[in-house]
Parts: sequence; structure tokens; C-alpha cells
Amino acid sequence: MKNYLVIGNPIEHSLSPLLHNFWIKKYHISAIYKKMELERNNIAKIISDLREDKINGVNVTVPFKKDVIPFLDGMSDIAKETNSVNTIYKKEAKVIGDNTDVYGFTTAIKLSNFHPKNKKALILGAGGVSPSIIFALKKMGISEIILSNRTKQKAESLKKLFPYVKIINWGETAKFDLIVNTTSVGIKNNEEIKLDLSELGGDLFYDLIYNPSQTNFLKKAKKLGKKTENGKNMFIYQAARAFKIWHNIDPEVNSEVEDLIK
Ligand code: ATR
Repeated sequence: MKNYLVIGNPIEHSLSPLLHNFWIKKYHISAIYKKMELERNNIAKIISDLREDKINGVNVTVPFKKDVIPFLDGMSDIAKETNSVNTIYKKEAKVIGDNTDVYGFTTAIKLSNFHPKNKKALILGAGGVSPSIIFALKKMGISEIILSNRTKQKAESLKKLFPYVKIINWGETAKFDLIVNTTSVGIKNNEEIKLDLSELGGDLFYDLIYNPSQTNFLKKAKKLGKKTENGKNMFIYQAARAFKIWHNIDPEVNSEVEDLIK
């Protein structure tokens, strides 16, 4: 029996076990996928368990996507370019970090029929997943990326990785085609981003949060008559790519899978 884990803090909200265990059962794999709430100083132990084959694969969620990097033996190109790891596996005695968030977000944007070419995007938040969104949008040919984070210094340090990004102050507005919330604001139902959404324009308002399915950010955008999308597809497709890495099976994404994630 193989063991898989998602690590993060908090982790209660994660639906990764539900999705992975569904596919594990469907494809008759002898494995179990669990969630584990960690403190930063527990990361070394998890990686050493992976090295000793006590664990066979790890998904990493907030706030550890960058923190796991020093413990790894190698990284995929995308993980290196984004400095962000969400999937870990062992290959030829080496512990490797990969990033499937870029694939997940790219697929979600394609499915939403938003065409990034010659468009302008505002990314809210400069936390662990933000580099994946910047990298994916740039690869899809977006013409401008503007980043806004409550703590400006974190946006500035991301600019070192992505010099083409422009930074605006938190709370500042302008017209954009795509607005992506990568912050954790909205995971708790009563939270909301203090921003005048009516000033932002927007063909598409995208929230990476999928649980709850409608954050206040999306509710407000919808009221303004905007097209909105939550992070469900990104979540499903990042998981599908991780599943492929671990089990070498491209799991089917069908209505049954979509119904799991409510
Ligand atoms: P980390 O910042 O450790 O990488 P994260 O969960 O990946 O953790 O990122 C959280 C993101 O949500 C950050 O962009 C954070 O902004 P700060 O860098 O200023 O902390 C943002 N965030 C969290 N709570 C917020 C709030 N109440 N208002 C605005 N932004 C918030």
C-alpha cells in the first residue's frame, strides 16, 4: 500500500484527499491519500519519510510551497522558474519537486474561454501560488501583468523573479481584462477584499479559492454583471497532473469528479 499526503497549514479545507482517493479507487491502485497539518519545522521529517519510502508522494499547499524547496534534491524546470513546489515524488533515489499549479491554472483559463493574448491582468496577492499564475499568464501570451499585494515588499521580491511584472499599491485600481485573486481572503465566509471592483473593468474575475465556491469577491463581481470563475478547475487539473506524475495514469475528469468538489 502506497502513502500520499497533502501538507499545509491550515489543511482542514483541502479536498485533495477526496479527489485523489476517488481516482485511486477508480484505477484500482493500492494506495491511500491523507491530509496533514504541519508546522514549518516538520517539513524535514516529511521529506525524510519520502526518501525512506514511508511516503510515496506529497502535495504541498499554503504556506509551504516555497519552504519545502531547500529539502529537495532536484526540481522540474517549472518549479525552478516559479520557485514554487506543489508536488513531490522520488525518482532514482532523489526527491524531486514539481509544480502542477501552472498546468492547472492554464487548463482552467482555457476552459473558461478567456483568451490572454493582448490582454491586461491584475493579480491580487504575492503569496505562494502567485508565481505560478504570473508564469502561466505570461506563457499564454498576456501583454501586461500588474501585481498588488497588501505587503508591497513581497510583490517587489516577486518582481525579482518576474521583472516584466508591474506593481501597484494595495487598494489602487485601474482597468483590467482579467482579475485573479490569489490571496487567502475569502476562505472564511465573512472575509472580503477591500477593493472597489466596479473600478476594475474585467472580462473575467477569477478566484483561486474553490471552497467556499462563491467568495465575496466573486459574489460582488457577479452583482456587477461580470463573468466569474472559482478555483475548482485549477484545483482538479493540478491534481490530475500530480496523479499522472505519481501513478502514470491520466485520470478522467468527468461530471462525477466535478460533483465531488462542491
Ligand atoms: P504566504 O504569504 O506565507 O506565502 P499565502 O497563503 O501563500 O502565504 O499568501 C497569502 C496571501 O494572501 C498574501 O498575498 C497575503 O498578503 P500579505 O503578503 O500582505 O500577507 C494575502 N492576504 C492574507 N490576508 C489578507 C488580508 N486580510 N488582506 C489582504 N491580503 C491578505
